[in-house]
Amino acid sequence: MNNIEQTLSIIKPDAVERNLVEDIKNIFIKNKFKIKDTKKIHITKEEASEFYKVHQSKPFYSDLCAYLSSGPIVVMILEGENAVLANRRLMGATNPKDAKDNTIRKLYGISIDKNSVHGSDSIDNAKKEIKFFFKN
Ligand code: CDP
Ligand code: MG
Repeated sequence: MNNIEQTLSIIKPDAVERNLVEDIKNIFIKNKFKIKDTKKIHITKEEASEFYKVHQSKPFYSDLCAYLSSGPIVVMILEGENAVLANRRLMGATNPKDAKDNTIRKLYGISIDKNSVHGSDSIDNAKKEIKFFFKN
């Protein structure tokens, strides 16, 4: 029953720019996530390339890294019951056009690249991604 996990969430530049940070954080809180840590940062293209290196062979890799480093982002450690999967469900499909009603990407996503949020896709990646942004 009790399976408390942590996952990494990023509010991407398109959503920060449109002042959606508080709205998106409130969605997480309403959905029973705890925001264990959060900070607003502006990363370099090199840092974005390191973060997204699993996608380095993809045609969209360079644009993706340029985009994530194009403006401020908000990174968060979310904690809750089955947090990795629960956050993926709450985010919705990668392409906002395919995302279900009431998901963050359906509500706020503009396009497949400007899709407002990132979320870790596995417990292993969540650990790596949390370490990437919150090294203590
Ligand atoms: O973010 P998510 O895990 O849902 O998708 P992904 O397949 O891991 O891709 C990472 C990010 O690359 C997506 O969130 C999109 O912003 C971007 N992407 C893109 O620009 N064009 C694609 N055809 C696929 C993904
Ligand atoms: Mg992904």
